[in-house]
Amino acid sequence: MIDLRSDTVTRPSSAMKDAMMAAPVGDDVWGDDPTVNAFQANLAEQAGKEAALLFPSGTQSNLVALMAHCERGDEYIVGQSAHTYRYEGGGAAVLGSIQPQPIENAADGSLPLEKISAAIKADDFHFARTKLLALENTIGGKVLPADYVLKATELARERGLATHLDGARLFNAAVATETSLKQLCLPFDSVSLCFSKGMGTPIGSALVGSQALIDRARRWRKVVGGGMRQSGIIAAACQYALDHHMADLADDHRRAARLAEGLARLPGVEITSQATNMVFAHFPDEHVQPLSAWLKEHGILIELLYATRLVAHRDISDEDIDKVTAVMEAYFSRHG
Ligand SMILES: Cc1ncc(COP(=O)(O)O)c(C=O)c1O
Repeated sequence: MIDLRSDTVTRPSSAMKDAMMAAPVGDDVWGDDPTVNAFQANLAEQAGKEAALLFPSGTQSNLVALMAHCERGDEYIVGQSAHTYRYEGGGAAVLGSIQPQPIENAADGSLPLEKISAAIKADDFHFARTKLLALENTIGGKVLPADYVLKATELARERGLATHLDGARLFNAAVATETSLKQLCLPFDSVSLCFSKGMGTPIGSALVGSQALIDRARRWRKVVGGGMRQSGIIAAACQYALDHHMADLADDHRRAARLAEGLARLPGVEITSQATNMVFAHFPDEHVQPLSAWLKEHGILIELLYATRLVAHRDISDEDIDKVTAVMEAYFSRHG
């Protein structure tokens, strides 16, 4: 199948599996896994932070970051469209007793500074304590403008808030803007990075930040059941991706742009946005169901029923992109 539903659908390559098989391991809850320790040290260095901590998922890494920054009765400012707010089961509130203060995202994914400012509560016992600003980069595939990130994090700092970045796809942002990971992480107190998206591992995310923050995060990770044992097999996959896969993200971005160009030629199809490895498109309502079925018949998986997002990733080739466009053209030439 040509699966464009997400960049999470990639399968580990045999070279990555070899690296996982060969990894020396130990019990990481005891701090004994040499592969985990080396990966965490290496990633911290690349991200320009004091320490890093491996997680099974980005959801857990974000949740634990929020719990490490905030206490019961604190609140965090977050975008309405942010993954941490919208797609993580309300974990901050459910498991962290942290109140989200959502703000409507602007079209470029940013949170307008005046809205952030207005949402910060006064120090008054009637209010939850505003403790944290959480941003996401990339968001909907879009890279947050660098000057915006500096202004937003400066505002947060001036008002006494900590800052967290959901950088599930920060590697895409780094490649798209030719900016180092370190530079993109610099404005934030903590950053969650995912390896199981465009980077192609079967599992694995990591949180980076100060040693004190990571120490608190390690405690919360254990509490939420994320303390893993011989997790060197995961760290080996993440290290392999870091060493070998990051530059390939440029190919995903190029393929997404090429896909958007192909789709834009179809009758009635509107590209609502294309950035990094994602294409968002609007298909005429009457075609959604039959086109979905047609594509599936031709070995193509696309989520058409909700917001139509097509995602390029390392298991999608140039030929796949051309096939998707050709199969769609064939559909529209019959039904257009
Ligand atoms: C922006 C963003 N953050 C966090 C996550 C959560 O990652 P995971 O699926 O590993 O829990 C995702 C997952 O798709 C995501 O897209």
